[in-house]
Amino acid sequence: MMQNETEKIIDEKVQGTTLNLDNKKDNTRKLYIESYGCQMNFSDSEIVASILAKEGFNTTQELAEADLVLVNTCSIREKAEQTVRKRLEKFNAVKRVNPGMKVGVLGCMAERLKSKFLEEEKIVDMVVGPDAYKDLPNLIQEIDEGRNAVNVILSKDETYGDVAPVRLNSNGVTAFVSITRGCDNMCTFCVVPFTRGRERSRNPQSILEEVNDLWNKGFKEITLLGQNVDSYLWYGGGLKKDFEKATDMQKATSVNFAKLLEMVATAQPKMRIRFSTSNPQDMTLDVIDTMAKFENICKYIHLPVQSGSDRILKEMNRLHTRQEYFTLIDNIKARIPDCAISQDMITGFPTETEEDHQDTLSLMEYVKYDFGFMFAYSERPGTLAARKLEDDIPEDIKKRRLTEIINLQQEHALYRTQQHVGKVEEVLIEGTSKKSDAHWMGRNTQNTVVVFPKENYKVGDFVNVKINDCTSATLLGEAVELSKNN
Ligand code: SAH
Ligand code: F3S
Repeated sequence: MMQNETEKIIDEKVQGTTLNLDNKKDNTRKLYIESYGCQMNFSDSEIVASILAKEGFNTTQELAEADLVLVNTCSIREKAEQTVRKRLEKFNAVKRVNPGMKVGVLGCMAERLKSKFLEEEKIVDMVVGPDAYKDLPNLIQEIDEGRNAVNVILSKDETYGDVAPVRLNSNGVTAFVSITRGCDNMCTFCVVPFTRGRERSRNPQSILEEVNDLWNKGFKEITLLGQNVDSYLWYGGGLKKDFEKATDMQKATSVNFAKLLEMVATAQPKMRIRFSTSNPQDMTLDVIDTMAKFENICKYIHLPVQSGSDRILKEMNRLHTRQEYFTLIDNIKARIPDCAISQDMITGFPTETEEDHQDTLSLMEYVKYDFGFMFAYSERPGTLAARKLEDDIPEDIKKRRLTEIINLQQEHALYRTQQHVGKVEEVLIEGTSKKSDAHWMGRNTQNTVVVFPKENYKVGDFVNVKINDCTSATLLGEAVELSKNN
């Protein structure tokens, strides 16, 4: 999959949403909510919709009729922030026609800019950081009374375990379940530890309840979400970094990611389970063994590496070497030979030489990733890299290197999709193909998109599909039969 086709991080990604509510107080007010950036933001918007549903907000896809416009923002690269600023201009134009409309900014830009946002963008009435959504009812009351409102306090706990998300724009088949918040890794290029705070994990019981509830509602696949899922650790609440201070009893009964995976896979043996994102320095053999043991855990690992050069990895504070990464890849492939692996890569990190870039290309040759998400380095204010290193790689060189890795990734993606041709693979139908009404679109366990004629199958069916052909991003096939897993 190429960068411009990615469904993971798309800076321009916009999602207007409609919500049908059964039992809310009164639906006199209309909420328009848009999400940008990572899956976690899309998942958080479902939490926000749930909190506001209880306040009587009904969502609309019509910006012009909204009483409240919320934009869940991303700070990961400068371009992501520019996209949001452009949207705010658009909201400004709408506000001229609909002067009663209030605008709130959520997510990472809210956390990064705090009350400065109110000064910089006059259209903004409310700034709410990623841990403060439960305070939205109070904040909305503030803006209703004509004051601006800000809450950017980060929390020590997984804040939303008890909120049942309202599934927005759902296909009714796949859903996200958040398991950790924040990140302690401090990669030097990354703004996330600043905008999402320290790492904490969610109570496994509340995760299981959400998964069971999704199954009862007909969902067939979940993705466990976190910035760094392998570092999941439940010991009764609190920050990951405070685990050392936990009691012996808490330590003895703690739940790590491998254990959580096993609990979820056992609780719902027919539910497909995915997870994202894995970090090479934290992924354990236990996790790989658990994946191998349970058929319902999908054989796909998103394993960002960012660079193939040991020197650059060190500058990035990625706490593993190129060789350690290869060993991890070898371990995965030895235990799960058909496991798909994908990467995130950054080109043009400060001081990156042509030799470092060649190291990235050769690392990619070794792994031959199934998918890839590739980015030019974007300096983020406040990060260690911004403070210590000059952003010294010219834009044209960053772009040229990016094109080279994208082209190589496309070759590898095609190599990988070709390996599926001739096989019969289980596909979970997610919906109609974007390109043809007569075809279904679904995914195999490796997360590769599969398209095939509809016949009498329906959304949510697991179907065994014979793969006849492929592009670098899609498998084309025909249904053989319903899978035994239905
Ligand atoms: N938690 C995940 C990823 C978080 S951000 C992890 O463990 O890697 C998603 C991706 O955005 C990163 O993997 C990285 O490739 C990219 N990214 C993050 N900061 C960036 C920056 N300053 N410039 C360019 N790309 C960046
Ligand atoms: Fe960012 Fe590194 Fe965490 S990329 S989200 S600091 S693992």
